[in-house]
Amino acid sequence: MGLTMGLNLLLLMAMVATNILSLYHLSSTVQSPKATPTAQPVPDHLLHQLHTIRSAINHLTRLQHPTPTASSNAATATSSASAAVPPDLLLYSQLSLIASSCHNHPDLLHQYMNYTPFSMCPYDPDLAETLILRGCHPLPRRRCFSRTPSKPSSSLPLQPFPSSLPDSNVIWSKYSCKSFSCLNHYNPSLGFDPSLDSSRFSSYSSDLDLPVPQLLHIARSAGSPLRLGVDIGGGTGSFAAAMKAHNVTVLTTTMNLGAPYSEATALRGLLPLHAPLQQRLPVFDGVADLVRCGRAVNRWIPDTVLEFLLFDADRMLRSGGYLLLDRFFSKGPDLENKYKPLIGKLGYKKVKWATANKTDSSGIKNGEVFLTALLQKPVSK
Ligand SMILES: *[C@@H]1O[C@H](CO)[C@@H](O)[C@H](O)[C@H]1NC(C)=O
Ligand SMILES: *[C@@H]1O[C@H](CO)[C@@H](O)[C@H](O)[C@H]1NC(C)=O
Repeated sequence: MGLTMGLNLLLLMAMVATNILSLYHLSSTVQSPKATPTAQPVPDHLLHQLHTIRSAINHLTRLQHPTPTASSNAATATSSASAAVPPDLLLYSQLSLIASSCHNHPDLLHQYMNYTPFSMCPYDPDLAETLILRGCHPLPRRRCFSRTPSKPSSSLPLQPFPSSLPDSNVIWSKYSCKSFSCLNHYNPSLGFDPSLDSSRFSSYSSDLDLPVPQLLHIARSAGSPLRLGVDIGGGTGSFAAAMKAHNVTVLTTTMNLGAPYSEATALRGLLPLHAPLQQRLPVFDGVADLVRCGRAVNRWIPDTVLEFLLFDADRMLRSGGYLLLDRFFSKGPDLENKYKPLIGKLGYKKVKWATANKTDSSGIKNGEVFLTALLQKPVSK
C-alpha cells in the first residue's frame, strides 16, 4: 500500500510540475500581448506535457476509484508494478516535493536509481549526463560510492596553466582517448593543454577579443571591480584560469561531453560546476560580479531557453555587474532581428558590442556571425 501511495505521489508531482510550467507559459503569453503581436503557436513540448497531465489524471482516477469487480485485480497489478520501483527513487520523490523534469524520463530515472545502497555505484556517467541534459538537474542523490581513479597522482598542479595534467586522476574507460596527450593530439583546440591556452585570454587579435587585463580595467574604471564570476559552458576552465592569475574567483559550469572537462578543470585547481545550460544555476541572487557565456551559448540553443538563461545570468549578477557574451554566434540576419532584441530585454548598458563574420567552414556555409558583447547591469534595478 505504501508503495502504491508512493507511485501516486510520483504521478501527482509530475502533474503539479507540468501544470505549473504550463500555467506559467500561458500566463506569460497572456500578460505580454504587446511584446508578441503575432500569436505564437503552442509549442509541441507543452502539448506533450498537457497530454502527460491528462494521462496522469486518468491514471490517478483509475487508481483511486477502482470498480468493485476489478479492484482486486487492479490492486495486484499495481503492487507488482510498484514493487519494481527502486526504494531510493520513492524516497527521493518524497523528499523533493517540487518535481523537476526528472519525472519526464521515468525509464532513465529508474535506471539511474537502480543500484545497491551502501556499495559501489554502477559506473554510469553517461546515464547521469543523459538525464541532466534532459533537464533532470540536480540529479537525485544516491547512497552508494562513486568510482574513483585507481592510482591517482598526489602531486597536483599548483597553478592553473600547468605544462601537463596528470592522466592517472581520470577514469578513462568511457573515452576513446586514454590520456590528455591523446585528446590534444586529436583536437588541440579543446583546451586540454593548459600551457597552450595561457595566451588565449590575454591577447588581442581581433575586435572580438576582450583580453582579461582590459576587462578588469574597464570594470575598475567604472568603479565596479570584478572579484567573483561564473563562466557558463567554460570547457576546461581556461577563462577561470586567466582570471585566477588576477585574483578573481570564477566558477566554471561544464559537462563531460566526449571528454573529461570537469576533471581537467578541477586538476587546474579551479571549481567545476556540473550543470547543463537549461537549468537554474545553483548560485544565489545578486552575488556575481561577472557572468560569461562562452561559445557553448550560441544559436543552437532554443530562443526561449536562451531567454531564461540570460535572465538567470541577470539574477546572479549584482547591480553594476557585467554580462560577457564571448563569441556568441548566430546566422547573420538573426543577430539583428532576434538576438539583439532578446539581449535588449535585459536593459543593460552596452560597454562593448563587436561583430564579425564567422569564417570557418560551417560559418561560411551558414552565413554566421560572431558577437562579443560586454554589458553592464544597471545599478538601480
Ligand atoms: C593576487 O594576490 C596576491 C596575494 O594577495 C598578491 O601577492 C598578488 O600581487 C595579486 N595579484 C594580482 C594580479 O593582483
Ligand atoms: C560578411 O559576410 C557577408 C555575407 O555573408 C558579406 O556581405 C560581408 O561583406 C562580409 N563582411 C566582411 C567584413 O567580410
